[in-house]
Amino acid sequence: MFSRYLLDLPDVKKINDWYDCIVIGSGIAGLSTAIRISKHFKVKVLTKSNLSESTTWYAQGGIAAAVKKPDWWKMHYGDTIEAGQGLCDSSAVEKLVKSAPQMIGDLLELGIAFDISGGEISLTTEGGHTFPRVLHAGGDATGEEIEKKLVKYSGSFSNIDFFSEHLAVDLITESGKLLGILGLDIKNNELSIHPCTSTVIASGGIGQLYDISTNPSISTGDGIAMSWRAGASIKDIEFIQFHPTVFKTNDNHLFLITEALRGEGAFLRDSNGKRFMVGKHPKAELAPRDIVVKEMVKVMTAQNLSFIFLDATHIPEKLLKVRFPNIIAKLKENGLNLGTDLIKVFPAAHYLNGGIKTDLKGRTDIEGLYACGETAATGAHGANRLASNSLIEGLVFGWEISKDIIRKTRSKKSGHEAKITAQLKNIISKEPLHLKKGPEEDNLEEMILNFRKMMSRNVGILRDEKILKHAHKIIDEYAKLFINKSLIDTKKIEFFNMLTVGHLIAKAGLIRTESRGTHLRNDWPKKDDKNWKKHIILKGQDISFEPVT
Ligand code: FAD
Ligand code: SIN
Repeated sequence: MFSRYLLDLPDVKKINDWYDCIVIGSGIAGLSTAIRISKHFKVKVLTKSNLSESTTWYAQGGIAAAVKKPDWWKMHYGDTIEAGQGLCDSSAVEKLVKSAPQMIGDLLELGIAFDISGGEISLTTEGGHTFPRVLHAGGDATGEEIEKKLVKYSGSFSNIDFFSEHLAVDLITESGKLLGILGLDIKNNELSIHPCTSTVIASGGIGQLYDISTNPSISTGDGIAMSWRAGASIKDIEFIQFHPTVFKTNDNHLFLITEALRGEGAFLRDSNGKRFMVGKHPKAELAPRDIVVKEMVKVMTAQNLSFIFLDATHIPEKLLKVRFPNIIAKLKENGLNLGTDLIKVFPAAHYLNGGIKTDLKGRTDIEGLYACGETAATGAHGANRLASNSLIEGLVFGWEISKDIIRKTRSKKSGHEAKITAQLKNIISKEPLHLKKGPEEDNLEEMILNFRKMMSRNVGILRDEKILKHAHKIIDEYAKLFINKSLIDTKKIEFFNMLTVGHLIAKAGLIRTESRGTHLRNDWPKKDDKNWKKHIILKGQDISFEPVT
């Protein structure tokens, strides 16, 4: 059902120009990596929407780095490890937090206008942080400021060629080595092969698998699905982080209300007005996200609520206006005032803690293939990511990847390009033309919505064996509809990728018979360090376990 290639390669005749490096995705991970590599070699960026459409754009709270004493990397390290609930790999965390201040320096050089207060960079707190170490921009529009500047800066480099509205469909490999990418030019509906020595997958997260999610429509898990099809290892995929405070607009759109609001003092209250997080964790409303969500679900279930209340009414209005201008505007459009009204919020799928397994240089187990940003599992987040550690992770590991790619490209042997191009030609000439045909267009949207609802219900915050098994069955039934069907259509390709990733999350979720971090099992409610302080690795049909390092 989940075959090696989504499209049969003999359909494809066109082979594009050679690039040493192709980056898939134009969020913080993709663009920052492309910029660094382009100082030495030509880079092609493939991105499936317009250049700036990314999760990065929507990031609100900020970017974490220990930049001001008495805070220092060891404190950031400790908070990250604690949030990760025993599954963080210490060397990845160390790399992340030690390199973070330097990355902030690079962003300042790019002209990112972080907010200033009293003549200094303004720092806030979010869930799980012991110190105010989250830098922000535009009050609550950090991602927009970073993405805008990255797009502008990367556009000024003649060494980067951008291909927007180009969907990466599959990775073409032979004997565990990357040869190129199969891509779809969405506007012209044309498939072609993009040959290269190295590819960086920076395709972001998977939030679209859930109907209740903070993520934009691009977050369909494509990079994970195509890497898994190509034989890469997928790690910690069962850990999906839900964000506690999401607001539904009058026209049924979901809008994140940043954790930084709680960082500035906002409370969570139940239907009786009680601050239910007090006494549940020493940091109360600023406990790590998984702990807050778990307590919210308990309160919502006990009080038969579909929301809880976020209360910022005691925070000076002047401060709210400076720090949260976009949230205030959004609430106003919906008839609410952050300074005087209680806001109804609920948890929504937000972030993938695991993903494509990489080492500290961002290398996957396919030669020439790297993964960076939310799609990668570096080991830095364990079972629950610390708030605002995602943007910084994209920068830190993108930097490591760029160094490795530059070094490798420099030492490449002569005749390398001709050899790979010949291999690609050989692959695409092997079999007869054979088109697959997808499910009928008419009910595709409905199928996708039903799948997303099922994921929220069965593979969401609370899981158990029965509902996870049921999810597997449903996913397999959907996947069967794709057998021998044409997939040359962006929506169908994305849906098949969503099914693939859903299959992997449900599979790992079933295997992990304990509750830890963002993986909560009703039938295995306790953390089980003796048996489960280890990573689950899915590679093809193989399941293996790796110790936490
Ligand atoms: P993205 O920014 O999602 O970029 C992925 C790119 O890949 C996009 O350009 C997309 O079009 C492209 N793409 C995807 N599939 C394909 C394909 N098949 N072919 C070609 N291109 C493809 N984190 C923080 O650290 N701090 C915050 O304050 C914060 N706030 C957040 C607020 C919201 C509402 C959300 C949803 C997330 C937030 N996060 C935050 C998480 C953080 O924004 C993301 O984890 C991070 O931006 C991911 O960056 P990325 O570069 O890996 O992926
Ligand atoms: C937020 O602003 O609450 C999101 C921060 C994050 O996901 O790290």
